[in-house]
Amino acid sequence: MTKDGEINIFETVQKNNFIFKDKNSLKHLFLPKRLLHREDQVTQIARYWVDALNDVTPSNITIYGKTGTGKTASAKFARSQLLEYSADQNVFIKIEYVRCTDYSTEYQVIAHLCQKLGRDVPYRGWTKAEVINTFRDIFRTNIHGKKLILIVILDEIDILLNKDGDGILYTLTRTDNVSVLSISNFLDFKALIKSRVTSSLNDKEIVFPPYGANQLTDILNERAKLAFNEGVVESDVIPLCSAMAAKEEGDARFALDLLRTSGDIAEEQGSETLKSEHVRLAKDRIEHNKFVDVIKSLPIQQLRLLEAILNLTNKKEEITSGKLYEAYTDVSKKDAVTYRRIFDFINDLELLGIISTNTISRGRGKGRTNIIKLQCDEDLLESTLLQSI
Ligand SMILES: Nc1ncnc2c1ncn2[C@@H]1O[C@H](COP(=O)(O)OP(=O)(O)OP(=O)(O)O)[C@@H](O)[C@H]1O
Ligand SMILES: [Mg+2]
Repeated sequence: MTKDGEINIFETVQKNNFIFKDKNSLKHLFLPKRLLHREDQVTQIARYWVDALNDVTPSNITIYGKTGTGKTASAKFARSQLLEYSADQNVFIKIEYVRCTDYSTEYQVIAHLCQKLGRDVPYRGWTKAEVINTFRDIFRTNIHGKKLILIVILDEIDILLNKDGDGILYTLTRTDNVSVLSISNFLDFKALIKSRVTSSLNDKEIVFPPYGANQLTDILNERAKLAFNEGVVESDVIPLCSAMAAKEEGDARFALDLLRTSGDIAEEQGSETLKSEHVRLAKDRIEHNKFVDVIKSLPIQQLRLLEAILNLTNKKEEITSGKLYEAYTDVSKKDAVTYRRIFDFINDLELLGIISTNTISRGRGKGRTNIIKLQCDEDLLESTLLQSI
């Protein structure tokens, strides 16, 4: 209540929030105290890393698994456990976590590691050899009679390998006292590495399988205790989120997103409990947002092609590639790409599930024609295009 008797808007809103106790615990970067159903994988990491406690550089490790299977969380969990356990022992261990979307060249990763280890290396300007020499120099000095053992976690390594080749793995695996834990979404990630690197990597592999519905239920139950007020979550909510996420390839991130968004919707509606209908609405909202993100990330020529498809769809016309090219050049005017290039774009949009194509035969001697159809909501596409072009 304010001095003049008016009720503050935040007081009203806060009083009507029945749902969440701690929303932060459902955020992506929240690291839970226990990782259910990943005990085996974390133990395997620990079995390799335990060498560091005896001043032996641990084996290199590669973790594979689809999105949301707990790879990043498990590596970070193992890291915090080793740092906690080694803190009061006479060892000199550092574990650096590098997300390869943030540092996407060998130079940047090594410069980042140097900086973390107290060497002042600029993010550009030096030669690669200068940066690598500075990095290797770190391991030549003893501190309290001990040499540093460094474990580098390279998360989403596929991005770095695709962009900058396998030099980073070559450099790190050929530096004494450095152990690498690589995290990849693809089982065939070794295809991106040349044999000279594979042999110096000599890694131990750990596979993270997708979570099943029951495992996701355990994970969500644990998290719900932290996130929601007591008695708020109705009994069918968590099994429903888990079943939906199990269909999405056992993705724990999706399961947590569903639960958080369901809570948001329940709160927006002023509901006192979280119900299965909120989960269904949450699924629509997440899919809607994903679609908008995909459209917004498309290059301009593909957006124009989509605009042309939308225009023809609104006119209820059957869309052949020829007709589409005409409509597209109308939209793009001078900087239109060639007719051939359009087929690549059509392919891309089809792969993203935004359109479908169907080849039909017009009858004898008339050849075959491609018919293109939108596979998404027209109004949503129109409003997204308006914001993007
Ligand atoms: N076993 C688990 N127990 C509790 N939470 C988990 C567990 N596994 C995953 N999570 C949570 O699910 C989310 C996704 O997990 P994580 O980021 O580790 O997946 P990932 O395998 O690295 O996925 P990506 O390949 O997309 O990077 C995180 O918020 C994480 O805390
Ligand atoms: Mg990850």
